[in-house]
Amino acid sequence: MAGRVRPELVVVTGAGSGIGRATAEEFARGGATVICADIDLAAASETALRIGQHGAGRAEAHALDVADPEAWERFGASVRASHGVADVVVNNAGIGMGGPFLEHTAEDWRRVVDVNLLGVVHGCRVFGRQLAERHRTEPARRGHLINVASAAAFIPSRLLPAYVATKAAVLMLSEALRAEMADHNVGVSAICPGFIATNIYAASTFVGLTSADGQRRGGLARELAGRFAPGPELVARRIAFAVRYDVPVLPVTAGAWLAYGTYHFATPLMRLAARLGSEPALAGLEGLARRLLGGGSPAPDPAAGPARDESRTS
Ligand SMILES: NC(=O)c1ccc[n+]([C@@H]2O[C@H](COP(=O)([O-])OP(=O)(O)OC[C@H]3O[C@@H](n4cnc5c(N)ncnc54)[C@H](O)[C@@H]3O)[C@@H](O)[C@H]2O)c1
Repeated sequence: MAGRVRPELVVVTGAGSGIGRATAEEFARGGATVICADIDLAAASETALRIGQHGAGRAEAHALDVADPEAWERFGASVRASHGVADVVVNNAGIGMGGPFLEHTAEDWRRVVDVNLLGVVHGCRVFGRQLAERHRTEPARRGHLINVASAAAFIPSRLLPAYVATKAAVLMLSEALRAEMADHNVGVSAICPGFIATNIYAASTFVGLTSADGQRRGGLARELAGRFAPGPELVARRIAFAVRYDVPVLPVTAGAWLAYGTYHFATPLMRLAARLGSEPALAGLEGLARRLLGGGSPAPDPAAGPARDESRTS
């Protein structure tokens, strides 16, 4: 593959929070103009403002629902018309969804697949086509597509069946696309973070739990991540590294590397671990987590049984 990417124009989805915001700031610090896209325009604007205030580069906010293919077409055309072809596109926007497979409805699946998988597919389609076209006139100029998967891509946990399925699909999509996009001098990487301190836990949907139980569990996960997990800046730096060195698959955090190794070299062990997480076991783990955090809300009552949670926990 010829040359290194010069990230002069970078698109980041889900740029209004967590890993997306940190990634936008990372590339802006490197001198890029960053297009910050998010379903939450106010949050994306806040990221762009932070970048402007720190004088660390230029940024622009756009509203984009990554699940909407027509919005992607409009977004791609508008970025190209105003700035040209993006050198790096970071397909980062994603949502969390946990709970037993048998509690997920068809609508739950549609939403998580639309955002976590098809959101990435549309980003690669729209901007991948532009990069392939540019390659015909500027063959030496490299581009890069970053797809944020997760360590969940190689953790077949019963706790997150829909989430892990979408993340494994993003990983394999990235591998297949990498093989094709090499013809166009475009690198493709799948980034697989482990536990990172962001808002995703509080914003996740927990199917099969009451709204109150879902909120408590999401809040607990967020507290644990805030106390023990690295911040999103670590992932942002690894994303910049993956672009620079054209890394195909990059686990981020020691836990993610451990999961990667176990899945590939001790698969039966991973399958056993995947069975952990029955509701009574989770109730016990919640107690342990609260002790680790030094207090907190009361333990759930597993005997109360699940009730469908229609709301997000944020
Ligand atoms: N935090 C972690 O521990 C972790 C671990 C592995 C992978 N990830 C992945 O990292 C990515 C970023 O997550 P995060 O932890 O920064 O979460 P976050 O909740 O802090 O940020 C996600 C951002 O995506 C936006 N978003 C959600 N749905 C969208 C949509 N349909 N269209 C456009 N934007 C949308 C949200 O508004 C939010 O700004 C996700 O794909 C997530 O699955 C996170």
